[in-house]
Amino acid sequence: MLEIDPDALIGRGLHRECYTHPDNRERCVKIVVAGDSNENLREARYYGLLARRDISWEMLTRFHGLVETNLGEGAVFDLVRDYDGDVSKTLAHYLGSEELTTANSKPLSSALAGLRVYLLENRVVTMTLKTKNILLQKTAENDAKLVIVDNVGNSDFIPLSNYSAVLARLKIERKWRRFEQSIRARHAGNKALPSLLAC
Ligand SMILES: Nc1ncnc2c1ncn2[C@@H]1O[C@H](COP(=O)(O)OP(=O)(O)OP(=O)(O)O)[C@@H](O)[C@H]1O
Ligand SMILES: [Mg+2]
Repeated sequence: MLEIDPDALIGRGLHRECYTHPDNRERCVKIVVAGDSNENLREARYYGLLARRDISWEMLTRFHGLVETNLGEGAVFDLVRDYDGDVSKTLAHYLGSEELTTANSKPLSSALAGLRVYLLENRVVTMTLKTKNILLQKTAENDAKLVIVDNVGNSDFIPLSNYSAVLARLKIERKWRRFEQSIRARHAGNKALPSLLAC
């Protein structure tokens, strides 16, 4: 059984807590603290589908299976770190401050464009794209990419877009438009924002 130190907490969302893996600083362990575990099953299935399709994991944390821990069942994922070793911060963190957006505007805009292309090329379908579930990984002083850490997969009753490339593309494009709309709505006061978004 994996012994997780409560001090190793990286972050928490509405459903899960995310800890540094005790034996591997490149991985994290996520423990469900609220909500239902069917969600984990749906997620694990979708990751299985992506692994079978042999997609690129450049902008999506890879799932490494479930483990027993002192805090309950945990799901192991890649841990996203910046080039300096710090755990990467969320896109919400960067867009929440006009100063940070301005300071990082070039890497932010290329990273946003890069993520859209990644999702389309690898046919990765997401649920609602949210800035708190996407990390800006600084790969160098002035270079970065976005990495999705949560909310991939398809909650449709009959997930046709898991099987049809055309439907997947339409779905990804729709999700992306809504993502840009939600960023604009949430950060309306951030004057550095318009230059980052495509339309
Ligand atoms: N792979 C990762 N590498 C680094 N930090 C991470 C990673 N995954 C999650 N985090 C951090 O932990 C937080 C919570 O993780 P996660 O989004 O998986 O939890 P959640 O409860 O499922 O979220 P939600 O509220 O969106 O349902 C994230 O917002 C992020 O700050
Ligand atoms: Mg989350």
